[in-house]
Amino acid sequence: LEGQPVSKPLSGKKAVVTSGPTYEPIDPVRYIANRSSGKQGHAIAAALAAAGADVTLVSGPVSLPDPMGVKVVRIETARQMLDAVLAALPADIAVCAAAVADWRVAEEAGQKLKKDGSGVIADLKLSENPDILATLSQKGPKRPQLVVGFAAETENVIEHARAKRARKGCDWILANDVAPGTGTFGGDHNEIFLISGVDATSDETWPRQGKNGVARALAERIIQHFA
Ligand code: CTP
Ligand code: CA
Repeated sequence: LEGQPVSKPLSGKKAVVTSGPTYEPIDPVRYIANRSSGKQGHAIAAALAAAGADVTLVSGPVSLPDPMGVKVVRIETARQMLDAVLAALPADIAVCAAAVADWRVAEEAGQKLKKDGSGVIADLKLSENPDILATLSQKGPKRPQLVVGFAAETENVIEHARAKRARKGCDWILANDVAPGTGTFGGDHNEIFLISGVDATSDETWPRQGKNGVARALAERIIQHFA
């Protein structure tokens, strides 16, 4: 498309996107994490940047190249992700695609935990991590105008996603079915339901498509929203 005028409908808009897993240390060599390749979050950051937005991508450990034209902040834990996201505000758009570990170990061991030979494992005390999407969704002067979250569900996808939207206070939820056998995790395809309102009249079912396609479709909907 060389020589074609490039349309930048989101120029002047700031976006913050979370991506990847978080790693919560148990000891210096072990961690707790959710499964996440970061493919979807990185693709969304790239699509928003391509549409002209000023994008900060806050990402946990992934083996992906940095998307073009995006500022990338690398973190490991959920608490670091929250700090980095808050530091990126104010923003017009927030998209939380990270698979944040729900729990962290209450007290990280300073030294590698050793097996004691008894066959019994030490109890790990867990604390709940901060909810980044819910924090971003709280009403206030710094709340991004449009806050978008994901809901990865293995059953009753729409129902659970609708409840999640209400609980978190975000504007839109992109729900996807991650039941074993759907191939969503680590795969390249996603089937998405967009839930953008309190009742089913605003629901959209997007055709099964690649994660780049989902990212472009979301960018398109965001462009429409701000048009
Ligand atoms: N999320 C977040 N911070 C957390 C947990 C989740 O920002 N500590 C975001 C995710 O990035 C996603 C959305 O919240 O956009 C939903 O994540 P999910 O794990 O499906 O929801 P939870 O509220 O953690 O509920 P559960 O895992 O029990 O289904
Ligand atoms: Ca979770």
